[in-house]
Amino acid sequence: MDADTLKLRAAERALDYIKPGMKLGLGTGSTAEKFVDLVGTRVVDGLDVVCVPTSEATRAQAQALGIPLTTLENEPELDLTVDGADEVDESLRLIKGGGGAHLREKIVAAASARMVVIADDTKRVSKLGAFPLPVEIVPFGWRATLLMVRDTVVENGCKGSVTPRGSEEDPFVTDNGNYILDCAFGQIDNPDKLAEELSRLPGVVEHGLFIGMTSSAVISGENGVEIIGAAP
Ligand code: A5P
Repeated sequence: MDADTLKLRAAERALDYIKPGMKLGLGTGSTAEKFVDLVGTRVVDGLDVVCVPTSEATRAQAQALGIPLTTLENEPELDLTVDGADEVDESLRLIKGGGGAHLREKIVAAASARMVVIADDTKRVSKLGAFPLPVEIVPFGWRATLLMVRDTVVENGCKGSVTPRGSEEDPFVTDNGNYILDCAFGQIDNPDKLAEELSRLPGVVEHGLFIGMTSSAVISGENGVEIIGAAP
């Protein structure tokens, strides 16, 4: 099975978590995109949901599909968010932000009673960190923030590079007008502590470690779909 099919299988299974009348958070990325397509089809068939997108890309996709949208300003408490991940470990801790959308993704997930992650089994890891950890920072003083992030990760036993996404002349800019630092460590021995320490730094808006936020992971592989955590 190719990667696209595996992503689709996970997205299809996640539909089981939706109940009519729910307020849904819609994730970002290539796996979430498949889920949004499926929600769009269900909406055409009469499913009653209202959704909050986690990025401008997802907003545009959902709008084009005719999915009813709202905002967290209007609906600050959601029933369920379904989103992809760059890595998921056995404790349902995640690295997210490969697409640079993790700030909104985390806000929307935190506002949701449940968060379901959908992924193919290449995202499943015993230890987080092979995927570079994204850290969103404000542009003001970004070089100073980069140095603070470097010191902090070293103090937390993480070795590797911390580099701005994009180039100095043309930095990657998030939907929120911020920059991203990609932290390539290889492995993160204590993700919980690193998450706390990064959150303390001025200039850091949000990092891509999602700790204690995920209720279920729907993981698809060659042998079928496995659910870690709560069943639908
Ligand atoms: C977006 O910033 C990310 O958090 C994505 O959810 C994550 O990168 C997964 O994307 P894919 O489904 O495309 O791998």
